[in-house]
Amino acid sequence: MQKTGTYILAIESSCDDTSCAVLIDNHVLSNITANQSIHEQYGGVIPELASRDHQKNIVPVVEAALKKANIKLTEINAVAVTSGPGLMGSLLVGLSFAKSLSLALNVPLIEVNHMQAHILAHFIEEENDVAPGFPFLCLTVSGGHTQLVKVNDHLDFEILGQTIDDAVGEAFDKAAKILGLPYPGGPLIDKLAKEGDRTKFRFATTNVPGHDYSFSGIKTSFLYFVQNEMHKNKNFIEENLKDICASYQHHLINVLLKNAKKVLKETGIQYFAIAGGVSANSELRSQVKQMAEENNLKCFIPKFEYCTDNAAMIGVTAFYKFQKKQFSDVSVVPQTRMEL
Ligand code: KG4
Ligand code: ZN
Repeated sequence: MQKTGTYILAIESSCDDTSCAVLIDNHVLSNITANQSIHEQYGGVIPELASRDHQKNIVPVVEAALKKANIKLTEINAVAVTSGPGLMGSLLVGLSFAKSLSLALNVPLIEVNHMQAHILAHFIEEENDVAPGFPFLCLTVSGGHTQLVKVNDHLDFEILGQTIDDAVGEAFDKAAKILGLPYPGGPLIDKLAKEGDRTKFRFATTNVPGHDYSFSGIKTSFLYFVQNEMHKNKNFIEENLKDICASYQHHLINVLLKNAKKVLKETGIQYFAIAGGVSANSELRSQVKQMAEENNLKCFIPKFEYCTDNAAMIGVTAFYKFQKKQFSDVSVVPQTRMEL
């Protein structure tokens, strides 16, 4: 016998992952993601190739999610989908599919902001897992965003700081490209850094007023540093790869946490969470735990599968919107930029 609750089918296609999840309320029954390896060779996501792959993947991914959840399409009570921010062609594929499905099934369509969803991944119901209390501070770190968000309630957000230029994920990926590593370089830098000396090299910091971040100067200084060293020793990268990764990663994590600590101190917020692709980073995860212990804070670190892009986080956000009857109609359009 099936449990009673709201069955939500959620779709995520904002960048290069095609994902579908089925949830009953905020409990995940399935969460299937097709990654696109085609971008590895280009050092970044090629939008046209991404949207073509979404078109190929979307039907098999949705079918696989329904099968794994052991749910028939006719049992679905609402269809949720990312409407932004993201790549226009990628968003269009998921949004068009979701609109058609909601019309065909005659169930509500719920549009979801991708960055809100990264944060609300903390409310996916898991055994022995406690969700953050309100208000909490969330450091949202992904390929396109770096934000310090005060979360007052499930659907009430205030940005207290954000990057004025590049996102920290971009600083990871571009540095990896400079080192000759494939896209996305963040996870590779993380892996190589584990065996490196994080004190060996130092990198510049850009001072930004208030609680904002800047990563574009750090990225450029990394490029000049590598070019300079290569000039002296053409084998510099091969001979020092692990130490370069460890030192650069350490620098980025320190920059991220410096502002977070400042905001936590100033606001007196007791709960601290991280979210988004870069929250899978092992040094960030361990530094956050240590920082929480030292400052008597409670920290919330997402499960690995809910850090990078996934439809389960879209589904859980839709669950809270469903309760408030925040439905969309079929005139909804994708938005490459979108406020929280
Ligand atoms: O949230 P996400 O999957 O997609 C966006 O919304 O952008 O984040 C992707 C970003 C990429 O920049 C990727 O390199 C980075 O997350 N990332 C990591 C790690 N895993 C993913 N960065 C550092 N360490 C990791 N372990
Ligand atoms: Zn994301």
